[in-house]
Amino acid sequence: MSIIILAIESSCDDTAASVLRDGVVLSNIVASQAVHRQYGGVVPEVASRAHQENIVPVVDLALRNAGIDKHELSAIAFTKGPGLIGSLIVGASFAKAMALSLGLPLIEVHHMQAHVLAHFAEDPKPALPFLCLTVSGGHTQILLVKNHLEMELLGETIDDAAGEAFDKTGKMLGLEYPAGPIIDRLAQQGKPVFDFPEPQVPGLSFSFSGLKTAILYFIKEQIKANPNFIQENLPDICASVQDRIVSILLKKLRKAAQQTGIKEIAIAGGVSANSGLRAGLEAMGKKEGWNIYIPRFEFCTDNAAMIAVTAYFKYLNGEFVGQDAAPVARFEV
Ligand code: KG4
Ligand code: ZN
Repeated sequence: MSIIILAIESSCDDTAASVLRDGVVLSNIVASQAVHRQYGGVVPEVASRAHQENIVPVVDLALRNAGIDKHELSAIAFTKGPGLIGSLIVGASFAKAMALSLGLPLIEVHHMQAHVLAHFAEDPKPALPFLCLTVSGGHTQILLVKNHLEMELLGETIDDAAGEAFDKTGKMLGLEYPAGPIIDRLAQQGKPVFDFPEPQVPGLSFSFSGLKTAILYFIKEQIKANPNFIQENLPDICASVQDRIVSILLKKLRKAAQQTGIKEIAIAGGVSANSGLRAGLEAMGKKEGWNIYIPRFEFCTDNAAMIAVTAYFKYLNGEFVGQDAAPVARFEV
């Protein structure tokens, strides 16, 4: 008999649902909340209200696109955390109510584990063990993936996440939130002519707050001399910022590969959609003899297919939770 899972993801500002049959993604629906753009960042209360409005149509569409009736489902999965608690509660409560009414088992999923396991949503899949650089708006981590459900944190950021570095720089440059994709697009028209400092952080840890400050002071100084500095140099500023963020990420990833001797290398999370990171990883992979894995765009940013894939491994492992399951804002891998 088939194992059919409905998964719900609502950790930040995307309401998402996906249906998976025997490990194959049948549907993957995401409703993004454009409402936050005007505020320059995600407003938690606004996000949870929007989830509340979106969740029924999103789940309905995921089932319809998959051609699955809710009575055919084997389990319901939801994101437990980490994330915004008001957002997580909407997805978790909906999943719990649906599981209760249909008499189905419930599976809770770690959002960051799911970003890594997005690699198992389609072929080619990395061979175990592999290293995964997970870079999102809230996290920057290098994980050693020993097994589908067993991951060791080798290093992470001590302050801002890589996605935050993109988004905060964007704010300084007057770009809309989230600025990551905009900086990426503008960078393709510019050259990395401005040199931003590389943070000196030991081991496999990352730091981006110093870079953020350096960019801020650089822009202020330049504007003093030329009030139109940003407008006249936007593509080059974006290319320079992106180049530095990518070089910081890849340097640590190479260090992790050298330390562990692992040559199966993956990237995950929203920032893995970045064209500079993708190109840089491909070049480094060729040089270092790595097999590299980059998810398709829709599996990079927040989505529910990754939650469904993780839930599928948990289902096979018999990892279910009861109706007392509760989401948590902070959650270690
Ligand atoms: O994984 P994700 O969708 O949500 C979180 O769990 O945070 O990641 C969102 C982050 C944002 O910071 C966004 O600016 C960044 O991913 N991002 C990008 C690109 N696409 C999304 N950053 C750089 N280049 C991109 N193309
Ligand atoms: Zn995410």
